[in-house]
Amino acid sequence: MAVKNAMTSDFLHSAYGGESMAHMRYLTWGTMAEKEGFKNISKLFEAIAYAEEVHANNHFKEIGGNTADATVVAGAVFGPNKTVDNLQGAINGELHEVEQMYPVYLNAAQFQEEKGAERSFHYALEAEKIHANLFQQAQNAAKEGKDIELTSVYICPICGHTILDEAPDKCPVCGAKKEMYKEF
Ligand code: FE2
Ligand code: FE2
Ligand code: FE2
Repeated sequence: MAVKNAMTSDFLHSAYGGESMAHMRYLTWGTMAEKEGFKNISKLFEAIAYAEEVHANNHFKEIGGNTADATVVAGAVFGPNKTVDNLQGAINGELHEVEQMYPVYLNAAQFQEEKGAERSFHYALEAEKIHANLFQQAQNAAKEGKDIELTSVYICPICGHTILDEAPDKCPVCGAKKEMYKEF
């Protein structure tokens, strides 16, 4: 289903750009975290990078037939630093999405009765809340020179829902089954 209204279409393009860059940035920061000896923080970055890929793909599909070149502006952290600082960049990015970007995009999609975009923005918003929290936990540990405690990270491949250590029987956001979750 293709998006109909120009404003929601713009927001889908913008969100696609932001998620794509977040995906790549987290992979880079994950590799850096591993080199610093933070194995689990590295795993967390890698898993959440996948969740952002899920969001990017969802937005991309909702653009549907409305394809054309689009310039995308992304207000986000660029470049490498120490893991503690990279995590701050991640926290800031996630909080921006939670507090401003996705609530505004979601409201616009609802107002314009764009059901597909509404679902895609809702899925992302719910996951970013969790990401902000997990990156904060990781940073608290890293500030003390410790790694975050976790065995594995599970990501829902439909909506990007993110949870540590064990997948739920059903995704609380989209209803996907436990077996579908991807383990990192
Ligand atoms: Fe995302
Ligand atoms: Fe996120
Ligand atoms: Fe889900």
